[in-house]
Amino acid sequence: MSKSPNITWSRLGLGTGTLASLGRASSAKDVERILVSMLENGVSVIDTANTYGSTACERLIGRVMKNIQGPFTLVTKAGYCHGDLPLPLRPLNPFLKKALQRMGRQQCFEPTYIAKCLERSLYRLGIERVSTFMLHDATMEAVTNDHLLSVLENLKTSGKTVLVGVSTGDPEILQHALSTGVFGVIQTPASLRHAQALQSVWHQCEAAGIHVIANHIYDPHCFRHLGVNHELLMRASASLLPEGATILCGTRNPSHLRQSNEWASNPIPRPDAERLAEEIYAMEI
Ligand SMILES: NC(=O)c1ccc[n+]([C@@H]2O[C@H](COP(=O)([O-])OP(=O)(O)OC[C@H]3O[C@@H](n4cnc5c(N)ncnc54)[C@H](OP(=O)(O)O)[C@@H]3O)[C@@H](O)[C@H]2O)c1
Repeated sequence: MSKSPNITWSRLGLGTGTLASLGRASSAKDVERILVSMLENGVSVIDTANTYGSTACERLIGRVMKNIQGPFTLVTKAGYCHGDLPLPLRPLNPFLKKALQRMGRQQCFEPTYIAKCLERSLYRLGIERVSTFMLHDATMEAVTNDHLLSVLENLKTSGKTVLVGVSTGDPEILQHALSTGVFGVIQTPASLRHAQALQSVWHQCEAAGIHVIANHIYDPHCFRHLGVNHELLMRASASLLPEGATILCGTRNPSHLRQSNEWASNPIPRPDAERLAEEIYAMEI
């Protein structure tokens, strides 16, 4: 566990990217099982986004959280265009999202839109504030937009989010975001394939007290090219990341959550992890 002001960050976090995917959405009962398992295993962080399941994911989490006493550390994100139709048109949201994408409207970081997104996320989650509100796959234009940065500061002041963050795997965008002093959290991919490129940003965050959230640990390329298993990937990434980082595990399976949590708390020796990261880096995949 590590602590930023008013936030408890668990070592493992639940990733919810596929929890409410079209055609394979989890039931409320399944989500309840995984949230109960989180609490039993000391996992508090839930990472979601308004675009996951075209808003259905946040609604599902909100519904289940009504029945389960936390504490949960909620992280949500905005920046992708998505459908947000009211009932009875809600089932059309995923199709609206696809139509927007086909029209070239993939992302939007317009300040008023982003502020509105947080309002809507809070409503769907049924809470008054999140721990962190992130720009989802932020562009350079977004993190250099002074108007957007001041809107994000206002969202903190208004109490709707404790911290604001930025998610991207682009070291240049991350460097710029860090230089603004606005962002208290970053989210990056952190598989062995990404570690070489992002190590220096992670170190910088560690020194500055900026929290790191890591995703994409179970990278299919690493399985294929290194011939390693889930346990080794998690324990190696845990070794390379800052000690207090939160590592996401996208699972619907309570026993996978428990296993991943144990592995995340038990890193392999750093030189071994570095050797694996160098090996996959040299493959240039
Ligand atoms: N741009 C962004 O901000 C961004 C991008 C990517 C991801 N994310 C976040 O990160 C989360 C994680 O996504 P990811 O793509 O990084 O996926 P991941 O967690 O690296 O991998 C998920 C896959 O691993 C399996 N798995 C998990 N634990 C396991 C275990 N102990 N043993 C065997 N298999 C296991 C899961 O299957 P089971 O369901 O069967 O366990 C699932 O197929 C997402 O849900 C999302 O919240 C954010």
